[in-house]
Amino acid sequence: MKMFLMAVIICSVVFGAEFPKNIESNKEIDKKVAKLLSKMTIEEKIGQMTQLTLQAVSSQEGTKNKKHIINEKALEEAIVKYHVGSILNVYNVAHSVEYWHELITKIQDIATKKTNNSIPVLYGIDAIHGATFTQNSTLFPQAISMAATWNKELERKAGEITAKEVRASGIPWNFYPGMDLGRQVLWPRFWETFGEDVFLTSTMGSEYIIGSQGENIAAPDKVATCLKHYVGYSFPMNGKDRSPAWISERMMREYFIPSFEAGIKAGAMTIMVNSAEVDGIPTHSDHHLLTDILRGELKFTGVVVSDWEDIKRLYTRDRVAESPSEAVKMAVMAGVDMSMVPYDYSFYTLLLELVQKKEVPEERINEAVSRILKVKMMLGLFENPYPEKNGASLVGTPESQAVNLQAAVESIVMVKNKNNVLPLKQGAKLLVTGPTSNLLSTLNGGWTFSWQGNEDALYPKSANTVLKALQSKFGADNVVYSEGTSIDKDINTNKTVEQAKNADAIVVCLGEAAYCETPGNFDDLELDASQLKLVDELSKLNKPIVLVMLEGRPRIIRKIVDKADAILVAMLPGMMGGDAIAKILSGEAAPSGKLPFSYPKYPAALYHYDHKPIEQRDDLKYDPQWKFGFGLSYTTFEYSNLKIDKNVISKSEDIKVTVNVKNTGKVEALESVQLYLCDLYGSVSRPVRQIKGFDKISLNPGETKEVSFTIHPDALSFIGRDNTRIIEEGEFVIYVDKLEQKFTLK
Ligand code: BGC
Repeated sequence: MKMFLMAVIICSVVFGAEFPKNIESNKEIDKKVAKLLSKMTIEEKIGQMTQLTLQAVSSQEGTKNKKHIINEKALEEAIVKYHVGSILNVYNVAHSVEYWHELITKIQDIATKKTNNSIPVLYGIDAIHGATFTQNSTLFPQAISMAATWNKELERKAGEITAKEVRASGIPWNFYPGMDLGRQVLWPRFWETFGEDVFLTSTMGSEYIIGSQGENIAAPDKVATCLKHYVGYSFPMNGKDRSPAWISERMMREYFIPSFEAGIKAGAMTIMVNSAEVDGIPTHSDHHLLTDILRGELKFTGVVVSDWEDIKRLYTRDRVAESPSEAVKMAVMAGVDMSMVPYDYSFYTLLLELVQKKEVPEERINEAVSRILKVKMMLGLFENPYPEKNGASLVGTPESQAVNLQAAVESIVMVKNKNNVLPLKQGAKLLVTGPTSNLLSTLNGGWTFSWQGNEDALYPKSANTVLKALQSKFGADNVVYSEGTSIDKDINTNKTVEQAKNADAIVVCLGEAAYCETPGNFDDLELDASQLKLVDELSKLNKPIVLVMLEGRPRIIRKIVDKADAILVAMLPGMMGGDAIAKILSGEAAPSGKLPFSYPKYPAALYHYDHKPIEQRDDLKYDPQWKFGFGLSYTTFEYSNLKIDKNVISKSEDIKVTVNVKNTGKVEALESVQLYLCDLYGSVSRPVRQIKGFDKISLNPGETKEVSFTIHPDALSFIGRDNTRIIEEGEFVIYVDKLEQKFTLK
């Protein structure tokens, strides 16, 4: 009899809160903050609450054709005359580390040498899937793809590497991670989410925060994180960016608030506000969400920053304020500590007037400014506000790129592999086609060197598109390229079909162009007709077709699913995405990604996996194209021996679950083991299942590992009829793969 080593892997459904511990205790810092505050004038205080964009103090915006030029006079005016406490971003270009150092040094020189209290400026940036606006940075898969890895360790490393590269650029504050739940696939920021599930989002986001902030955010490789966008932004009813959400209090507490709560527990220092409105109340004016819940219940002690221009918009767009001054008063009194104004001094001037007229109490200003100063102190900016000299050498290192490649490989989800058409044989003649096959922007999406990410001219020449990566893996002579179609217009489909006649297999890369935020709004979830037609025409050749989907949201492809032999849902796998796809297609790596969302089959059937029993009727059953959690491998796994250590537990007892997983195929592979839970009866209807634990393991052919999970009773809780979190006695079922076990809570 063959003996296999049984490794035991333990994972818990409760993640530890590791609040950043600083050199000094919180109390010491509070004392220092109070002392500094007592020396500040009201003008200086309000300046601290003001955030400007770099463009506001520039004489020339940087773009792909133009160098950015700072306007030193305007910069000095901002910091000395208006006491501006924070600056953000850059627009449509990424700077070199050296240029960032020059900029940050200029800013901090003025702040620390030309002002009364020498308060350093807090520079913030959107480093969304890596240091977006720094040249040569490590650009990871976007959040939706990182979630598809189901790999906590990789997410933590992505946080660590991004923080190192952002801080190496001289910037101590990152407006990330996105904790918005991706439960609306039409939303153009869907790819900025970790998918549709509360637990997966909370876990991945927390890992990122812990990786980014570490134990001491003053360290030269750490930054302060910012949870976005509190709260409900990701669930617009009509699917469009910055449009109304209608979310009941129970739904808010059950689905949308928990990931932010997890982020707060993981130690996030700042939070950005939802740019739109919930239940008719623009969030920037929502005292209940921003103060009662965020401060009162979630105990958040950090800084609340507005989103871009959103305080003004309470007047100009939402019309809940009747004047710009009322808008400022509303937002500050609702709980916003810092205004991303970002182009002028209107916030400063209006807030000063409001305080002088006693319409906003100075205590509220003191509270906001104390929070801002505390973050600056915890970041160590008072000791050293300047960039570290060795910055450039820390960016895009081979070690970081190796982690990135691993993340990209693990992010790719194989959803179909008829007759094991994949992996493709070495020496096979390939025809590569489709609008996403030879661009880097379609692997990366928005927030890549520019806001929209669609400037291919800004991308590094050294990175591989899918085409280039396949040419280097299979030999340039074996790979023929033909465009086929652009995103929405036929280019040369007929010619492509002709060329494909000589190929052993056809690799068709479809999907979306890069976009970000509102410009990504669209009206049709189905993939563009010219792309569907390309596959349709090619399928008439009866050659194996491998479909690769590169997209920010799951575009409907039902009509071509049967025409493809293999399908990779690659979403936005980042700068190494081309190499990762080539590794998988060649069999150098086995796919291990699993969907973090339900891939819809029909535009009018958008369901979630954790739906309600009432949705299990035949007329509306959960029947997506591919289910949440689904993904194939080049091997097979057998699950057995699902055990729980108790059949009856009390509200204070944990339950330990173990299961054996065996690799029953022929290749080494990774598997994400997923544990689901169902609460059979509840006073509020309970989801048919919810993910409550997961762990990624590696198995050699024939190897078995025991995986173990600890379920804390908190995982059994839900929001009751009175809108508070409760745990009810009763029966629960645990599912792992096709196995199940029942237990009772008494
Ligand atoms: C986005 C935020 C971003 C901010 C600063 C806004 O338009 O909604 O996510 O952090 O701009 O760039």
